[in-house]
Amino acid sequence: MAGGAQWSEVRAFLTAHTGMALSVPQIRRLDERLVARSQGLTPHQYLMFLRSPAGTTDLEDLVAALVVNKTDLFRDDLQLAAFRSQVLTPLVARRRRPLRVWSAGCATGEEVATLLVLLAEAGADPGSTVLGTDISGEVLNRARWWSYSREQLNRVPPELRSRYFTRSGAKESLSPALRERASFQCHNLMARPYPEAPGGGGFDVIFCRNVLIYFTAEAFQRTVEALAASLAPGGTLVLSASEPLLQVPPSLRVHRGEQAFFYVRPEGETPPDAPLAVAAPGRVASKPSPAAGFSVRPKEAPPPDASVMVSVPRRGASKASAAADFPVRPKEAAPGAPGAVAAPPSVASKASPAAEKGGLSATPQPTTPDAFLEADLLFACVLDGAASGVPDSVSERDLRRCLSFDPDHAAARYLLGLLLEQCRRAAEATGEYRRALQSLEAGRARPVPFFLNPDRLRIACAHAAERLESSRRKR
Ligand SMILES: C[S@@+](CC[C@H](N)C(=O)[O-])C[C@H]1O[C@@H](n2cnc3c(N)ncnc32)[C@H](O)[C@@H]1O
Repeated sequence: MAGGAQWSEVRAFLTAHTGMALSVPQIRRLDERLVARSQGLTPHQYLMFLRSPAGTTDLEDLVAALVVNKTDLFRDDLQLAAFRSQVLTPLVARRRRPLRVWSAGCATGEEVATLLVLLAEAGADPGSTVLGTDISGEVLNRARWWSYSREQLNRVPPELRSRYFTRSGAKESLSPALRERASFQCHNLMARPYPEAPGGGGFDVIFCRNVLIYFTAEAFQRTVEALAASLAPGGTLVLSASEPLLQVPPSLRVHRGEQAFFYVRPEGETPPDAPLAVAAPGRVASKPSPAAGFSVRPKEAPPPDASVMVSVPRRGASKASAAADFPVRPKEAAPGAPGAVAAPPSVASKASPAAEKGGLSATPQPTTPDAFLEADLLFACVLDGAASGVPDSVSERDLRRCLSFDPDHAAARYLLGLLLEQCRRAAEATGEYRRALQSLEAGRARPVPFFLNPDRLRIACAHAAERLESSRRKR
C-alpha cells in the first residue's frame, strides 16, 4: 500500500464517500494533500473534522483531487448512434409526452449538451428535460457556461453544429432554446435520496457513463441498482462501453444492440423495494479468463490479422469498410425493439485503478496533453504486461482506463478488441474494432509510439471487424 498507513482511515472514508477505488498514485497524492491540509491535526482528528459541517470545503477539495473529469461532446458516437436508433427514436414514438433524462456524473456538461441535441433531433416533445448531476460543484459551474472550444466541436457532426451551436468569441455555445431544457444539481451517487424526475415516476433515460469504472465493485453494483430503481417502467440505463455489467440487477433486462448494450427496466414491473441494501457479491471484474496472461496474440483460433500486432506485419491490405459515423449508418438505422432480452455481456471491468496518476485531475479537461500522457502510460503498462504475462483482466482494465483518457487511442482499442476476441466475446470485440476504425478514419487517432502505423492499423481493424461480422452472419 502506497502512502502513510496513518491516513488509512481517511482514505477509507473517502472511498466510502465517493465510491471510488483509489489507485496507488492517487493514494500517494492524496496523502500529500492530507499532510498539507491537516495542519497539525492527527489523522483521526482530521477525519472527525472532515465529517463535520466545518470540514465541507476540505472534503470538496479532496474529492476534486480524486475525480477524473474527462468528457467530450458526442463521446462515443458509435454508442450514441445505437442509442438514437434503438432507444431514443422508438421511445419518442411511444411516449407522446416530455421525456425526462438524467446524466449522472456529467462532469463539465458535454454529455448534457449532447443529449439535448439528440432529443431535439429525434423530435422529442420540447418540454423534455435533461438533468445533469455530479459530485463536484466546481465542474457543474463550468457546465453552466455551455461554452465549448473549436476542438471539442470537431466531434459534433457539421449539420448539428450549425443547427445547435453559435459562435461566441473563440468558443461556441449551445443554443439558448436547448439550454433552458437542462438543469444541474450537485449530487453524490453514494448518497440518498436520488434526484426525482420532474413530475415523478422515474426517468425515461439515465446516462451514467465513465463514472462507475472508477468505483469499487460494491459501489458499482449498488449504484447500478439505485439507478435502476430511478428509471420509469420502460426506461433505459446507458453505461459506457467500458462498463458492461456482469450481474444485471433483476429489475433490468439487457438490450443487446449490434455494437452497444442498454439496460431496460421492463414495463409493468414493480421496482425492487430496497435496492440500496443489496451489495451483490462477486460482481467483480474477474470473469475467468481462458488463460492467464494477455499474450496479445490470440491463444485459440488466431484471427488472421492478429499477429500484425506483435510481430512483423505479414498480412496485406483488405478494403477497409467505412466506419460508423454519426448520424446513423444505414446498417444501424433499423430500430431494434427495446426490451429484447439477450445474454448479458460477459465481463465487468471493475475499477481497481492501475498506475494512473491522471486520476488526480482537479480541473475539467477535454482530451488534454496530460490525458494523452496518461493514456500512453497506461498503454505502455499493457504492452509491458503482455510481455511479462499479467492476467487478461488486468490488461483489460488498463486498456479501458487508457481509453477513458483517450477514447481515440486506436491501438489500445485494437488491442482491447483482440483481448475480448480471445476471451470469446466476439460482439464486444467487433464494437471495439469498429470504434478504432472510426477514430482512424475520422483522423482523430493520434499516432502513438507503437509498431503499427495508422494505415496498417486501420486495415487490421477493418479486417478484424469484417471477419467477426461475417462469421456472425454465417451462424
Ligand atoms: C470521467 S467523468 C464522465 C463524464 C461523462 N459522463 C462522460 O462520460 O463523458 C466522471 C465524472 O463522475 C463524477 N463522479 C465521480 N464520483 C461520483 C459520485 N460518487 N457521484 C457523482 N458523480 C461522481 C466525477 O466528478 C466526474 O465528473
